[in-house]
Amino acid sequence: MSHAVMNEQAFELAKTAMSKAYVPYSKFKVGVAIETANGRYYSGCNVENASYPEGSCAEAGAIAAMILDGESQIKNIYVMGNGSELVTPCGGCRQRIREFSSEATRIHVCSATEVRRSFAMDELLPCSFGPENLA
Ligand code: THU
Repeated sequence: MSHAVMNEQAFELAKTAMSKAYVPYSKFKVGVAIETANGRYYSGCNVENASYPEGSCAEAGAIAAMILDGESQIKNIYVMGNGSELVTPCGGCRQRIREFSSEATRIHVCSATEVRRSFAMDELLPCSFGPENLA
């Protein structure tokens, strides 16, 4: 386990994104902020749907915003949610993050007040399948 130096900008972005989550069904708000290798920032929130499986995770929204802006190297990703358990990315989102990660990528699991724990991609998704497999 490693503790990150708090990145205020990313932290505030994740917090604002979390406040905007559309979660009428689970009531579980998640906010995500991405810092890319080029120092650009993107955020996203979860957006649920009356047809439950059509809801999307906060990570998916932040990644879409990053790609739309022409960026693709995640340096740090902050995943923020409430509760006593760590809000680690779901399995599908681990694979989504993996697509745009490197050995330097860090996934920071946050409460609304602090970074609780930081992970390398390989810790969350060992022996993963990625773009290199198709090269
Ligand atoms: N959720 C995310 O947005 N990201 C995660 O990594 C974990 C789960 C959302 C999906 C759903 O809207 C709510 O949290 C409860 O599962």
